[in-house]
Amino acid sequence: MTATSTLPHRLREALSAAGFTYDAVADLLGSTAHAALARNQTAPGLARTADGSPLATLTRLFLLQTAVTRAEAEAALPDLVDRLAVEGFLETSVGEVRARLDCRPYAAPDAAGDHDLWVASDLTPGLDGLPNRVSADHVLGISSASTSLAQLTLRDDVVTALDLGTGCGVQALHLATHAARVVATDVNPRALRLARFNAALNDLTGIEVRDGSYFEPVRDERFDLIATNPPFVISPGTGERLVYRDSGLPGDRVVEDIVRSAPRHLTPGGWCQVLANWVITDGTPWDERLAGWLGPTEEGIVSDAFVVQREVLDPAAYVELWLADEGAAGTADYLRRYDTWLSWFADQGIEGSASAGSTCGAGPTVPQGRRRCAWRSGPTRSSSRSPPRSEPGVTPSTTSHVSTTTRSSPLACGPGPTCARSPSASRARPTRRPSCSGSSGASAGVTPPTP
Ligand SMILES: C[S@@+](CC[C@H](N)C(=O)[O-])C[C@H]1O[C@@H](n2cnc3c(N)ncnc32)[C@H](O)[C@@H]1O
Repeated sequence: MTATSTLPHRLREALSAAGFTYDAVADLLGSTAHAALARNQTAPGLARTADGSPLATLTRLFLLQTAVTRAEAEAALPDLVDRLAVEGFLETSVGEVRARLDCRPYAAPDAAGDHDLWVASDLTPGLDGLPNRVSADHVLGISSASTSLAQLTLRDDVVTALDLGTGCGVQALHLATHAARVVATDVNPRALRLARFNAALNDLTGIEVRDGSYFEPVRDERFDLIATNPPFVISPGTGERLVYRDSGLPGDRVVEDIVRSAPRHLTPGGWCQVLANWVITDGTPWDERLAGWLGPTEEGIVSDAFVVQREVLDPAAYVELWLADEGAAGTADYLRRYDTWLSWFADQGIEGSASAGSTCGAGPTVPQGRRRCAWRSGPTRSSSRSPPRSEPGVTPSTTSHVSTTTRSSPLACGPGPTCARSPSASRARPTRRPSCSGSSGASAGVTPPTP
């Protein structure tokens, strides 16, 4: 998909003309079909979208992943069907059109109210029980972890913001509503293309998408706000690496590295907000372990942190969650992989894992030059909305705080999406995606939001 052509603009016009917004799709589906879709079931939605209208056609194509007639597709996407097929969005056959990518409406609140956006990503796997396997370079759509982080993120106006591991660009789209300049990084070329396309699709010109690992593309730069939902799944690294969820680093090292590096990339008063999983090791209180990541940097930058551990899973539950998430359940390799993963946890002394969000920053009440790092994640209230993707069940856990800071704003209802949501928004949790949407699953150690 090409971000620099007229395609994003023309597609936006077509989606807008069809009224393909979050609220319109939710109304069209109704609560039962909406909830069913969140469980990856399409039958109730198909029954509600048979009128051939452009709105119904787009919903069938992209959310329900069913074929529509060529005539219906042409009516919903005038003069765009062949072009979208060339760009890999659609596939056409005799008389029929199907989606090859997802493109769904998303409602993101900002100071002016709800902001209607559209987000393209890879298709949600596993609808109606179809095999759930995704490719190694799968680009996750809006997951529960995405919206958890979006809710946690402080929404004060800032000059510069960084989205580390942007994927389809959802955090960058949010950041662009209150940051003059946004940099978004990723290592997956498909994610980079989709993030650029989504910025153009939503006519957000202040987003610069850069190729490179973590902070490498912004080596000498500082930001007022960093938001990241990194690939934090804690695994032995023996299977195929799914780039959207597996960092390739051992244990929760990716989270530790980000927390240790972030202060160097924050302006005084800035914040880094992280959604992640961490390991809970034998005999070590989780907050002590995390506090060990927060010492002064080599340059002497001191951070304060606020961390919330949202949920904790024992090793077996964690392994089951992520094996199911990648579609491994029922495969011939399932028991062997389960055993390998569990044995690896035991070898590492891992008792469980936890999920949560964190915020690092330096607020105005902090002495000049002092950065702060906080982690937090609370019960999910979806302030940003997209039609549902299902996700693995996650039990909200008791929140405990490990904090070396006195600032509570990250958890408080601030100007951000966190508090802006109506109950219906909560219902509209993004659907679960394969692994990364996985919930804020908890596992061993650090509180994580799920990727
Ligand atoms: C869990 S997804 C998050 C996507 C999106 N930011 C969100 O909130 O939904 C993690 C992202 O990190 C990216 N990633 C993986 N390894 C990375 C690395 N070494 N440097 C930067 N990004 C990386 C993946 O490609 C993926 O897009």
